[in-house]
Amino acid sequence: MKQQNESIKSLDTLFIKTYGCQMNEYDSARMADMMKQAYGLRLVAAPEEADVILMNTCSIREKAEDKVYSELGRYKKLKDKRPDMIIGVGGCVGQQEGERIQKRAPYVDIVFGPQSYHRLPEMVKEIRRHRVHVSQTDMPEIEKFDHLPKAESHGVTGCVTIMEGCDKFCTFCVVPYTRGPEISRSVESILEECRDQLAGGTVEISLLGQNVNAYRGPGPDGQEWDFTMLLYAVAELPGLKRLRFSTSHPMEMTSELCQAFAEIPQLMPYLHLPVQSGSDHVLKLMHRGHDRATYFRIIDELRAHCPDIALSSDFIVGYPGETDEDFEATLDLVRRVVYDSAYCFKYSPRPGTPASKSEDSVPEEVKDARLQRLLELTREQSRAAMQQQLGKRLEVLVEKAGRNAGDMEGRTADFKIIHFKGQMRQIGQLMPVTVTEAYGQSLRGELILAGD
Ligand code: 5AD
Ligand code: SF4
Repeated sequence: MKQQNESIKSLDTLFIKTYGCQMNEYDSARMADMMKQAYGLRLVAAPEEADVILMNTCSIREKAEDKVYSELGRYKKLKDKRPDMIIGVGGCVGQQEGERIQKRAPYVDIVFGPQSYHRLPEMVKEIRRHRVHVSQTDMPEIEKFDHLPKAESHGVTGCVTIMEGCDKFCTFCVVPYTRGPEISRSVESILEECRDQLAGGTVEISLLGQNVNAYRGPGPDGQEWDFTMLLYAVAELPGLKRLRFSTSHPMEMTSELCQAFAEIPQLMPYLHLPVQSGSDHVLKLMHRGHDRATYFRIIDELRAHCPDIALSSDFIVGYPGETDEDFEATLDLVRRVVYDSAYCFKYSPRPGTPASKSEDSVPEEVKDARLQRLLELTREQSRAAMQQQLGKRLEVLVEKAGRNAGDMEGRTADFKIIHFKGQMRQIGQLMPVTVTEAYGQSLRGELILAGD
């Protein structure tokens, strides 16, 4: 039943534009659930069809604000025609820009940060009653998770946010300012959300957080649990076939956590472990809290426990003060570690960060050239990782229909996308597939059916 004031036009449809990380995807899904429960809003695929438009923004890298304002310009045209519609800007740009957004774009009704979206129904209600702008960017102490409704629909794979925020304060990064300090959910609330997803048919769960391995949450025994303890508990939940997590910080890769890759059969052999730079000088400037030797030690330990683990990382080139020699050290680190995939970025100053106070000293063309070289190297490694799969028989979780007729799409244990001819009824099952072709970003294979 819709709970709404009869005197106002009914709200029927919702469009959410999501930028950024998996955590934002998760948050958007929660927003959609909440707006459905509070107002009966139905998600639509185009802003033109929506009574409520929400933007869930990201400010981690360059030009995020510009993108938001240009997208808002598009929405303004819609609102000029239908003044009754509601426009909200949430996420990290909402947090960072706050009421500045409504000054620059007065047609925006609501601004909210990542920690206050559980108050959306309330904010919408205020707008509908008084037609005033509402801004909500404080960071409440209370757990927003306690105020969110249960997720309504479940896919084969699901995400559960276990902690938010970051206390690391890397000098280039806005996250500690936009998402706030590290806050961990209770073990019980995480397990409950996982159980709920598993009961709905999910078989793979990814535990999410800016720094998942900094997790320290209250356990059911009254003690503080760390991330590894939580992993073991989640792995034991009936029905769970695969477990993943993202993102981890090298500083909190404990020996117990490295060992978990050998000991927890559900924990898949894939790890995203950002290093940002291979130069001790730059790592220190970035305030990363570890040097390259420590990173190598962690990689060695992980591979000792799980020789087939696929690794990925984030890199920043052109950090202020990065010399040619520093950059060569990054290339050297990549050659030594050998990654399955990598995300490479040119440094850009983010508002309010310590690094933004020093001069952005590396010229743009030098940044471009370094990025190009790093991309060549990491792409070469990705291609090789794909080629190595040829002829292998891999266990694949069938996730959805592929783009081509008759094709199904799934993921290998180490997170590679694979397509093969299959059936819709195989969705959610683990099936053996022989790899027959390797492309840049995906594999192709043939299902091995019983009797083959
Ligand atoms: N400039 C470039 N890249 C950045 N990242 C974070 N802040 C910046 C910045 N100011 C990258 C880091 C991080 C990833 C999510 O985004 O590599 O790991
Ligand atoms: Fe940003 Fe560093 Fe925290 Fe990662 S660990 S979110 S890069 S401050």
